[in-house]
Amino acid sequence: MQRDPILQAENVTKRFGGVTAVDGVSVNLAVGETVALIGPNGAGKTTFYNVVSGRMAPTSGRILFEGTDISGKPAHEIARLGISRSFQVTNVFNELSLRENVQVALVSHRGKSLRLFSVLSYDRALREEADAVLARLGLAEMSEQRTGTLSYGDKRLLELAIVLATEPRLILLDEPTAGLTPEETRKVIRLIDGLRADQPYTFFITEHDMEVVFNLADRVLVMHRGRLLAQGTPDEVRTDPHVKAAYLGEDDEAAA
Ligand SMILES: Nc1ncnc2c1ncn2[C@@H]1O[C@H](COP(=O)(O)OP(=O)(O)OP(=O)(O)O)[C@@H](O)[C@H]1O
Ligand SMILES: [Mg+2]
Repeated sequence: MQRDPILQAENVTKRFGGVTAVDGVSVNLAVGETVALIGPNGAGKTTFYNVVSGRMAPTSGRILFEGTDISGKPAHEIARLGISRSFQVTNVFNELSLRENVQVALVSHRGKSLRLFSVLSYDRALREEADAVLARLGLAEMSEQRTGTLSYGDKRLLELAIVLATEPRLILLDEPTAGLTPEETRKVIRLIDGLRADQPYTFFITEHDMEVVFNLADRVLVMHRGRLLAQGTPDEVRTDPHVKAAYLGEDDEAAA
């Protein structure tokens, strides 16, 4: 099936001083695909997401989203165009309720002035909208709970709610199941599966958990030392000798 491209990265490089974290990476994602980005620690996965989502400008190369050049644009502008991301480390306001966290995301996405007082006021439409997003993640009953009291697993689900609140078409998830129990991980897999059944989201997911990769990914990209080492179906990648060597090599170094 021929599908429209949603993200095209062309020869993207990101250097930090002498470290080339992302080294000439070219990637194409099609609308509605779920693509996993895997690779050993330090491979450059998060840096690549930082560049795509506008947290950092690329040193060189070009990134197109739905045909528009977004290279080096600021994060808020890229978010407004339709790319949303989660972070490897949880990133929520613990003092606010779940609903308030989502309201903040809704209001800031729309570019209204972010005065917390007005965000948290009794704007019924905004509240209902936030609750509808929470319901998609099974969090509706907790909407008034203070976020700081949540389990780690539920905080990660709240982050997914915040990601969805900005009505993205491309969703970058940086290790969405890191630190979760096997049961919580399966819940995240089911939820992502349900979300993409509802709407033609394109998911780009970094993961160390191969259960997540094998359950969700149509295609897998493997990064190693800043470069794309291999790509293919989950089965192709699993049996690729270069991929095995990359992971084993990393273990050797760690053991040394
Ligand atoms: N802000 C930064 N400044 C300097 N070096 C950085 C910065 N961010 C990342 N790096 C370096 O870039 C390389 C790639 O790191 P990155 O975090 O992108 O890897 P990763 O694939 O996400 O790893 P992990 O699986 O551990 O999350 C590493 O060598 C890292 O130390
Ligand atoms: Mg990372």
